[in-house]
Parts: sequence; C-alpha cells; structure tokens
Amino acid sequence: MSTTNVGPVMAAARRKVTTLTFAEKKERGEPLTMLTAYDYPTALALDQAGVDAILVGDSLAMVVLGYETTLPVTMDEMLHHARAVARGARQALLIGDLPFLSYQVSVEEAVRNAGRFLQQGGMDAVKLEGGRERVETIRAIVGAGIPVMGHLGLTPQSVHQLGGFRAQGKTAQAAQRLLEDALRLEAAGCFSLVLESIPARLAEVISRRLTIPTIGIGAGAGTDGQVLVTHDLLGLFDRFTPKFVKKYANLHDEMQRAFGMYLAEVQSRQFPAPAHTVEMTDEAWEAFSAGLAEDDFKMLERI
Ligand code: KIV
Repeated sequence: MSTTNVGPVMAAARRKVTTLTFAEKKERGEPLTMLTAYDYPTALALDQAGVDAILVGDSLAMVVLGYETTLPVTMDEMLHHARAVARGARQALLIGDLPFLSYQVSVEEAVRNAGRFLQQGGMDAVKLEGGRERVETIRAIVGAGIPVMGHLGLTPQSVHQLGGFRAQGKTAQAAQRLLEDALRLEAAGCFSLVLESIPARLAEVISRRLTIPTIGIGAGAGTDGQVLVTHDLLGLFDRFTPKFVKKYANLHDEMQRAFGMYLAEVQSRQFPAPAHTVEMTDEAWEAFSAGLAEDDFKMLERI
C-alpha cells in the first residue's frame, strides 16, 4: 500500500491507538484528536491522516440519514455503518456510539448492545450519554470488558428534555452538578469523557480534576482533546452549523460545482470524451461488423 499523501503521520509507522494511548497522552499533556466517520472512505482518510480516535457517532442520524435529531437511528443501522468504518481504519481507536434506547431500558440490554459493537461492528469501545443515572450501566459494561467513553453537557439524545440543542452548565448549580457527574463517571470506570457545549472555564476545571482524558466539542481549549462531526468540519452538512464548528473545507459547494459541471458536459456531449471510452482493435471491430451484417441479413430473411 502506498504511504504517500498520508498527512502529518505516516500510516505505516503508527501503532494501533488503544485506551492506554489515551491515558498516556493525557499524562504527557498531548492533545487527543477525534472525528466522526460513518463509511469506509472517510474512515480510510481519517486513519491515514493520523487521527487518534474515530467515533461512529449517532450524529449519523442527522448528517447522513437526514433526520432532525439523533433519536431515530437504530442499533442495527449503527452496526451497519460501524462495520464499514472498521474496514477502513487500522490504527485509530474505534468507538461506537450507543443510540437512543439501546442502553436506557435495562442494564442487561445495555451490556448486550455494547457487546454487539465489538462483536459485530468491529469497534474497540463504546460511548453513551448521561451522568449519575448511568453509573450502574457503565459499571456493568466495563465489567464485561468493554471500554466506555462517557458524554456530558449537551447530550443530544435528551434534546426534548433539555428544551433544544442548547449549551449546558451555565449556572453555578448546573456547573457543580456537571463536575460531580464527571467524577462519578470516572469512578464508574469510563476511560474518557466527551464534554459537549459547556463553558470553557468549567470544561477546563473538569479536565484538571479528572485523571481520564476529556474530549471537548464546543467546550473550549482547556480539554485534553477535541472532537468535531466530520460533516461539519468538511462543510458537507449545510442545514445547520453550530457556533463552535470551524469549517476546514466547503465540500457541499464543491459537490455542487462538480455535479453542475457533469450535467453541463453530458448535456453538451462533451462527456464522455475518447479518453474516458473503452476501445477494441480495428481487427476485432471488423470481424464483429461482418457478423453483424450477416445477422442483420438473417433477421431480415425471417421477417
Ligand atoms: O454523535 C456524535 O457525533 C457525537 C459527537 C458530537 C461527540 O456524539
């Protein structure tokens, strides 16, 4: 396999990222990088760029499947995409996001669904949303040998309870509760914690108080790592862009440009040009044409 154009880190030289790598990077004060992927080519590109972790996020529901929230996506749909990502990534730590109702109904169902991500989806770990109310579930999943990443702050699966996609932890009381929840998730055995849409100062305090690494999204620069939804970063999802997103490309516009050019070239018969066309030798063509003429002749006789 070619290792040219693989970005800042040579894919061939990298070792598989594990939960231990996460701990070591926090210890050394090295920022962790995480992005989402839902398909094979994106996973391949992210892995070759050298990202530490790939999250098969339930954001899939919104940015790929076109739903208004993350709630409709099912465990089977998540597994379908997880398998595609696992086929594309070799080095990154792969995290499957437990979708709505896959872990809230009972601890037993939660352990089974978390296990499916590893057994059937090719993932290395799972992520789930929520604070103190998830402690028993997290203990049970971790007890089954499955690494768990927590998720606090704006937890999109609770969008209706939160009254919309809005920042969390903005009052002294809410901030205190978030800090306590973070400590409880760490004690329950999470290897890492996503902090979404909370004040930067609070995220920094939580990150300093925890021994496990925090991964921020809309939580400022004081967390141990950062995550973005890849479709936001690439400018592929145009319906809504949160304030905390930085667009590193505008692929939606680029796609529009390419599609427009294709339509125009087909309509004007510029595409396909000879360079994009399969040919046969003149000899083969003549033999074929001779046969064609005979067939045509026989056909005429039958009429
Ligand atoms: O589903 C997702 O993509 C996420 C990230 C925003 C952390 O949970």
